[in-house]
Amino acid sequence: MKLQTSEIIPLSKPKTRRKTRTVVAIVALAFILTIIPLYFPYSQNYNQLSLSFQIGFQSLDHNSIRSTTTPPQPNNPNLRDEASEDSPKNIPPDAAAATSANSTSSNEKRGDGREGKRTSDAVVKEKKKCDLFSGEWVPNPDGPYYTNTTCYSIQDHQNCMRFGRPDLGFMKWRWKPDECELPLFDPIGFLELVRGKSLAFVGDSVARNHMQSLICLLSTVGHPVDMSKPKAGNRLYVYTEYNFNISIISSPYLIRTEKTVPGDFATPFNLFLDEFDQTWTGKIHTFDYIIISAGQWFFRPSYFYLNRTLIGCLYCPEANVTHLPSAFSYRWAFRTAFRAINGGAGVAFLRTLAPSHFEGGPWDKGGDCVRTGPYKRNETGLEEYNMEMYSVQLEEMRIAQKAGRGTGGKLRLFDATNMMVLRPDGHPSKYGHWPVANRTIPNDCVHWCLPGPIDAWNDLLQELLKREVKKKSKIT
Ligand SMILES: *[C@@H]1O[C@H](CO)[C@@H](O)[C@H](O)[C@H]1NC(C)=O
Ligand SMILES: *[C@@H]1O[C@H](CO)[C@@H](O)[C@H](O)[C@H]1NC(C)=O
Ligand SMILES: *[C@@H]1O[C@H](CO)[C@@H](O)[C@H](O)[C@H]1NC(C)=O
Ligand SMILES: *[C@@H]1O[C@H](CO)[C@@H](O)[C@H](O)[C@H]1NC(C)=O
Ligand SMILES: *[C@@H]1O[C@H](CO)[C@@H](O)[C@H](O)[C@H]1NC(C)=O
Ligand SMILES: *[C@@H]1O[C@H](CO)[C@@H](O)[C@H](O)[C@H]1NC(C)=O
Ligand SMILES: *[C@@H]1O[C@H](CO)[C@@H](O)[C@H](O)[C@H]1NC(C)=O
Repeated sequence: MKLQTSEIIPLSKPKTRRKTRTVVAIVALAFILTIIPLYFPYSQNYNQLSLSFQIGFQSLDHNSIRSTTTPPQPNNPNLRDEASEDSPKNIPPDAAAATSANSTSSNEKRGDGREGKRTSDAVVKEKKKCDLFSGEWVPNPDGPYYTNTTCYSIQDHQNCMRFGRPDLGFMKWRWKPDECELPLFDPIGFLELVRGKSLAFVGDSVARNHMQSLICLLSTVGHPVDMSKPKAGNRLYVYTEYNFNISIISSPYLIRTEKTVPGDFATPFNLFLDEFDQTWTGKIHTFDYIIISAGQWFFRPSYFYLNRTLIGCLYCPEANVTHLPSAFSYRWAFRTAFRAINGGAGVAFLRTLAPSHFEGGPWDKGGDCVRTGPYKRNETGLEEYNMEMYSVQLEEMRIAQKAGRGTGGKLRLFDATNMMVLRPDGHPSKYGHWPVANRTIPNDCVHWCLPGPIDAWNDLLQELLKREVKKKSKIT
């Protein structure tokens, strides 16, 4: 297995933007192959072959040159999970500067000059709070805490054991923040924590992946009642004993979109970058907690609108339309989503970009993820385009947190990027379906096996919610 031993991440052929037509053709094909599973396959038929393709789109970004930029660990105090939202002292001097914080491994940046100038007690207290997002994966021989027989809600695409994944080691790690222990998920404790609350996942199929992990972790205690309408794409699960609701809302772009050809998923979408997606913003006041996220869809061909006017596109054939990068629409989408959140949500978490791990080629040319264990943080880094998207998320979050201070906006960081870049071993690869004779199905190095490393997101969620409850009890 060459890939497993090689530390060198091969360069894939850079695609220039002049090759727009080729790219469009490739992307159109990708669309046909992937649209349904990526677009919230709540369909009962997801076992069908045609729905079993799962791939990512990173390599379609205009330059897929892989680099090993070190990811920005959120060591800057302004980027730490809570260090910022509520305290008026924590004004990021400049969001862009904040995101370019140098990566350091642990404590050396604590109490830097900027922080030292803050004298308020609240800030001092918050400074001591453990940064949950800076850490390493450490062995956990006791994992996993469910299997595909104890949890019925693993969908086939992520049911890696079912399709013969031979190694089990990838399930036996837990996330260890540098400064503290992250308690493992405690199903009963969690349900007590969220009694009488509603939690919504808003995003794409990776958000659904996260939700299914949560339902699996809770499955040792109980199963929710599915209160959704039979054919609805979006779902509502109710844990009746606890009056706890989980909603999942498909909004892969987070903003209002439109298909350019009605009913046709294969053609580019129109993105109305400054308009809310009412499917979730319309219900925002009913959620106590929202986890929003977005990713791969922004690498697809699309047309960009502001104030209902076409202002640009990504991978479109028209010469008289301004060609703009993915980061442009990504920034706008978060800006608009955060505006909705600042206008009256409960507590909202930005779950940051979860990087994919194609090695040995682009996703559609044999790229695969065959590693069987995590990286140490000094062994890898975010690829350049992921770094850019991640930085955009953090910048827009800082801006929105500032803006939301007056309106009671509660926007928090849920940083999945730095932890997940270390888990090339956690994806389904070819174990999301049975092999099909005479057909090459792209490997899925985007989603995450269940059980698998994505379960740690719920260890994190539990801790983040605990902190919210504590904060609230301090206030009242
Ligand atoms: C990051 O580190 C490099 C070299 O160690 C230094 O030149 C640069 O100014 C640092 N940047 C920040 C934002 O601290
Ligand atoms: C669960 O995984 C095993 C392999 O560990 C497999 O044989 C079985 O079919 C799977 N069951 C379900 C319900 O997916
Ligand atoms: C959960 O959903 C049910 C059914 O729609 C609703 O009656 C209940 O009020 C919701 N509970 C919470 C905590 O939102
Ligand atoms: C949006 O477009 C309308 C006309 O379609 C115009 O009247 C309005 O001023 C524009 N708004 C902004 C903010 O540009
Ligand atoms: C681009 O050119 C076509 C005709 O070639 C025209 O119909 C269209 O309105 C133009 N679009 C823009 C944004 O100028
Ligand atoms: C990474 O750090 C570990 C210690 O944590 C060290 O043993 C290892 O050699 C380092 N690897 C690289 C590639 O620097
Ligand atoms: C696969 O290809 C072989 C040889 O080319 C052929 O005999 C066989 O019928 C094909 N199978 C399917 C399912 O198309």
